[in-house]
Amino acid sequence: MTIPAVLEKKHLDACVTLFMENLSRQAAQTPALATGHIDPADVRERLVRLMEEAGGTVLTDGAGVVGYMAGWEIEDFFGSPRGSYTPEWAHATRPGTGREAGQALYRASGQRWVDHGCRVHVANLFHADTQARDAFSWNGFGYLCLDAVRRVEPIEATLPDGFCIRPARSADGAAVLSMASCVNQHLILSPVFRASSEEDTPEDAARWIEGAGCHTWIAWKGDRPVGYMKCEPVEDGAAWIVRGPRSFAINGAYVDPAERAGGIARALLSAIMTWAVESGMERCSVDCEAANIEGARFWLRHFQPVCVSMLRRLDGRLFAPA
Ligand SMILES: CC(C)(COP(=O)(O)OP(=O)(O)OC[C@H]1O[C@@H](n2cnc3c(N)ncnc32)[C@H](O)[C@@H]1OP(=O)(O)O)[C@@H](O)C(=O)NCCC(=O)NCCS
Repeated sequence: MTIPAVLEKKHLDACVTLFMENLSRQAAQTPALATGHIDPADVRERLVRLMEEAGGTVLTDGAGVVGYMAGWEIEDFFGSPRGSYTPEWAHATRPGTGREAGQALYRASGQRWVDHGCRVHVANLFHADTQARDAFSWNGFGYLCLDAVRRVEPIEATLPDGFCIRPARSADGAAVLSMASCVNQHLILSPVFRASSEEDTPEDAARWIEGAGCHTWIAWKGDRPVGYMKCEPVEDGAAWIVRGPRSFAINGAYVDPAERAGGIARALLSAIMTWAVESGMERCSVDCEAANIEGARFWLRHFQPVCVSMLRRLDGRLFAPA
């Protein structure tokens, strides 16, 4: 294996091949992940743009490209003035090369990111890519978020007496907003510690209920809203590979703590599946903080993980005061 070098256009075809092979291995483990629409030319175009804007690193040997790594440099990232983000298509290593290839690539990329003031480094990895997970762990990264998918299929669910589920109407905006604020509270506290970005507004709630392609369902106990689940065509910030035709994303769920473990969330998901079957949808995705014990447990009962993002936060003393 040679020392890492600057990623150049001449390497890109081999990089795209490594990525597409990695994707096929993930799809073999999670058939719900449809990949037929993912065009290698599109991946190449993304890599060209990333390489031209932010550079990248490549590792080669006598047989060609062993691996590559690149990442966007983003201002105001995870509470730091600057950070790097490596999407799932922006890195790969040849299987069988062990964690060393990923370690060597990060040694070069990481130094460039630190030289540019990136205090937080995030990478999205295929869940099946144990070699990459090993390399990033040894590079000091820990789990941040999961992306998971399921085929659109009915889910059997029976609600306890006195409960019902209905699609949200415009008059339900305040109820949904109040439950969304409880989700934020849940995520701010231990062990997730996710800082809320901006407060959700009544306009946000109106969009979740009536926006194009957006749908929200509410669980009622009598006349009291006790849970909701919502979806839209695409969730910003989720993995790129879960997008696609006849796909949609669930991007919010909550059940009142007093009503949990009674099948309310399952029944909400069942209502979404019924709508999705009738609407001709084929695949559904969800993303969730890895440290969200209740959330990750619930989603992983019904979805298969396809990507995991990992984060490394560097010691602030390495950087000049911002
Ligand atoms: C995640 C969340 C929505 C799940 O809601 P819930 O209504 O408790 O979910 P369910 O009852 O359908 O399933 C939870 C468990 O109850 C069990 N259960 C379901 N029906 C049951 C019944 N009739 N009797 C007893 N247990 C039952 C399920 O098997 C499941 O058990 P498991 O954890 O061993 O798989 C809820 O915990 C929550 O609001 N968490 C905080 C907000 C959050 O994390 N949102 C997701 C952000 S990504």
